[in-house]
Amino acid sequence: MSDPTACFEANRAHWDELVAIHLNSTGRDGYNVDSLRRGQRPLHAIEESELGPVRGLDVLHLQCHFGVDSLTLAQRGARVTGLDFSPAAIQAARALAGELGLDARFVEGSVYDAPTLIEGRFDLVYVTWGTICWLPDLPAWARVAAHFLKPGGRFYFCDAHPAARVFDDSPEAAALPTGTLRVHYPYFHRSEPTVGTEATDYADPTATLQHRRTYEWEHSVADIVNAVIGAGLRLEWLHEHDEIAWKLLPVLTPGAHGQYRWPDGFEPRLPLSLSLSARNG
Ligand SMILES: C[S@@+](CC[C@H](N)C(=O)[O-])C[C@H]1O[C@@H](n2cnc3c(N)ncnc32)[C@H](O)[C@@H]1O
Repeated sequence: MSDPTACFEANRAHWDELVAIHLNSTGRDGYNVDSLRRGQRPLHAIEESELGPVRGLDVLHLQCHFGVDSLTLAQRGARVTGLDFSPAAIQAARALAGELGLDARFVEGSVYDAPTLIEGRFDLVYVTWGTICWLPDLPAWARVAAHFLKPGGRFYFCDAHPAARVFDDSPEAAALPTGTLRVHYPYFHRSEPTVGTEATDYADPTATLQHRRTYEWEHSVADIVNAVIGAGLRLEWLHEHDEIAWKLLPVLTPGAHGQYRWPDGFEPRLPLSLSLSARNG
């Protein structure tokens, strides 16, 4: 299947199903919605160290899922608009915003349609964790982000490092000899998506999914950087990190602040995630 519309439909069904699971997910890998209710939910350690204050900012959160990060930003004083193509996610996000009385609105739609669905410009366009793998066209994605930025506004992006996404992430990979990583996925972008059939979930490994078939696209580091530059944004910095927000590979071990890291002594310590900041002007 290479028709992006059909791929998006399958991905949407997958993400719709995940919403109910994530709403109730707790523990180290869970979304822990109760901590959001208590006003005590942190962002992941990387964003906490890089993002800075958001009080008073107009924030657009693309691919906001059911709004936990969006509402965390709202609790810190941002006026947040979240967008996601999953109706279940948007419904849950609106319910949570209402329950918590937070200044946030949530819009249902694809990233690529956002300019026709959302008016206004923003101080910050925020995109984090598990996002661009669902998108076939990175230059178009970056143009959407740029479209929404006020002059001087900032684009903040943080996600899995493309170099870390090449390795086998299946349960069988856990049985490989210590120190072995098996290259399994392409590094460079292909128009054909990679098909996933994962039956469990990163936030709740006990879950058994009905909608398992997913379609993901690979994007290299150069693809990301050139998309941002090509959209007319000025790259401020690009950081590579040896930690990531979820257990991308079976070999990773829990680190501080909910992150996952390479085990002690494991070499080479490849980057697991990257983040960047870019400005409109
Ligand atoms: C891993 S989650 C987002 C990450 C977020 N940081 C979180 O953990 O809550 C990925 C989200 O992307 C959304 N998504 C996937 N493809 C999309 C598209 N084409 N347009 C809009 N949202 C999309 C899914 O519905 C899902 O909510």
